[in-house]
Amino acid sequence: MSFPSASTATILIADDNPTNLKVAINAIANCGWEVLVATDGASAVEQATYAAPDLILLDVMMPQLNGFETCDRLKKNPATQEIPVIFMTALNDTVDKVQGFSLGAVDYITKPFQVEEVIARLKIHLQLRLLTRQLAERNEQLEQHVADRTAELSATLYTLQQSQLQLVQSEKMSTLGQLVAGIAHEINNPTHSIAGNLKHIDRYLNDLLHHVKLYQAKFPNPDTEIQADARNIELDYLEEDVPKLLLSMQESIKRIGGISTSLRTFSRSDITHKEPFNLHEGIDSTLMILKHRLKGNDQHPPIEVVQHYGDIPEVECYPGQINQVFMNIIANAIDALEESNQGRSYEAIEANPNQITIHTKMNAENSAEPTSVVIRIADNGPGIPESVKQRIFDHLFTTKSVGKGTGLGLSIARQIVEQRHHGTLACISIPGQGTEFIIELPIELEAA
Ligand SMILES: Nc1ncnc2c1ncn2[C@@H]1O[C@H](COP(=O)(O)OP(=O)(O)OP(=O)(O)O)[C@@H](O)[C@H]1O
Ligand SMILES: [Mg+2]
Repeated sequence: MSFPSASTATILIADDNPTNLKVAINAIANCGWEVLVATDGASAVEQATYAAPDLILLDVMMPQLNGFETCDRLKKNPATQEIPVIFMTALNDTVDKVQGFSLGAVDYITKPFQVEEVIARLKIHLQLRLLTRQLAERNEQLEQHVADRTAELSATLYTLQQSQLQLVQSEKMSTLGQLVAGIAHEINNPTHSIAGNLKHIDRYLNDLLHHVKLYQAKFPNPDTEIQADARNIELDYLEEDVPKLLLSMQESIKRIGGISTSLRTFSRSDITHKEPFNLHEGIDSTLMILKHRLKGNDQHPPIEVVQHYGDIPEVECYPGQINQVFMNIIANAIDALEESNQGRSYEAIEANPNQITIHTKMNAENSAEPTSVVIRIADNGPGIPESVKQRIFDHLFTTKSVGKGTGLGLSIARQIVEQRHHGTLACISIPGQGTEFIIELPIELEAA
C-alpha cells in the first residue's frame, strides 16, 4: 500500500459560513493540498465516506447537524473513523472543547484564522496521520511475519519430533536387534555342534546295542558277574529307553534351532532395506521374544495367545520395523492385562483369563483384488477411556509411571505403519472390555 505524502493530501472542510470557507480554501490550496468542501454536517459525512480525505476540518457551530454530532457520526462509521478531525471554532464561541476531544477530535483551531498557524497544525496532523498509517502497515507486516515464523517453527518442531522418533526407533531397534542377533549367533554354534554329535551318538549307540544283542544271542549263558551287572544297570530297560532319550534330545535341539531362527527373524532390524516378509513369522518371533512376559506365575495364570492366521501373501516391507510395531502393540497389551490383574485373585483371573487375540487376513473391502492385508491385535484388558484414546498416538503421551512407559511406543508404531509403509494404524477400545489395534499394510510397498 502507498500513502499520499503530507504534501499531496486531500482535506475536507465543512463550514456553513462562506467567508470562513473562502479564507480556509485559499490558505489550503496555496499549500498544494486538494480541497473538498461541505456546507453542512450531513454532506461532510457523505463526502468523507466516498472521498476518504486525509483530514477533516469541521466547524463546530453549524445548523442542523453541528460539528460534534458530525464528528460522532464520522467516528462511528468504520469507513471514516480513522480520519483525523480538527474542529474550527470562533474565539468567542463558548464550546466545550473537552467534548470535542472525547469524541475523537485531534485538535482545535480558532477563527478568525492565523493562516500560518493553521497550516502548521495541518502539516503536523497530516504527518501524524501518515506516520500512523505507516505504523499500522508495519504492524500488519510484522504480525504476518510473526505468524509466518510461528508456522515455520511449528513445522520445524514437528519435523524434529519426527526425526527424534526415527532416531529412537532405529536406536531401540538396532540395540535390541544387535542383542538378539548376538544371542542367536551364540546359541547357533553349540546347537549345531550338539545336533551334529547327536547323529553320531545315535549311530554309535545303535551299533553298541546291536553288538550287545549279538553277544546275548551267541552267548546266551554268560557267567554270574555279567548277569549281575546286567541286572544292576537294568540292561533291558536301558536298551528300551536309550532310543527314546535320543529322540527327545533331537526334538529339543530342533526347538532350540527354531528359537534361534525366530530370534534371527526378529532381529532383522535393517531399516533401509525392504523385502517380502512373512508377517506370521514376524508375529511368532515377537511372541517368542515376549514369551517370558506371557508366562504364568503363582499370582496369575499365563496369558492365552489365540492366533487366527489367514491366508496372506508375503508383504513387501522393512521387516525389522514391522516387528517393532508388533512388539510395541503386544507389549502394551501385556501391560494393560497386567494392570487389570491388580487386586484380582488367581482364581478370579483363571475364571476370565487374560487373552491376546491376533487375526490376519486379506483386506476384504476391495475383494476384487485385495491390495492390502489387515492384522488385528486385541486384548481383553481394561480398555481405554475416550479422553485417553484421543491422545495415545501422541508423542510422549503415557499413562504409565516414570520408568515404565516413555509414551513413544504407539507414535513410533504409527510413524512406521503410516509414513514408512503407507498403511494405517487405528485403535478401537471399549472401556471394561478391551482394546484392539488394527494395522493395514499394502502388499506392494511401491504401489502404495
Ligand atoms: N492395549 C492397551 N490397553 C489399554 N491402554 C493402552 C493399550 N495400548 C496403549 N494404551 C495406552 O496408550 C498409552 C500410550 O502407549 P505407548 O505405547 O505410546 O506408550 P507407553 O506404553 O506408555 O510407553 P512406551 O511404549 O514408550 O514404553 C499408554 O500409556 C496407555 O495408556
Ligand atoms: Mg508402549
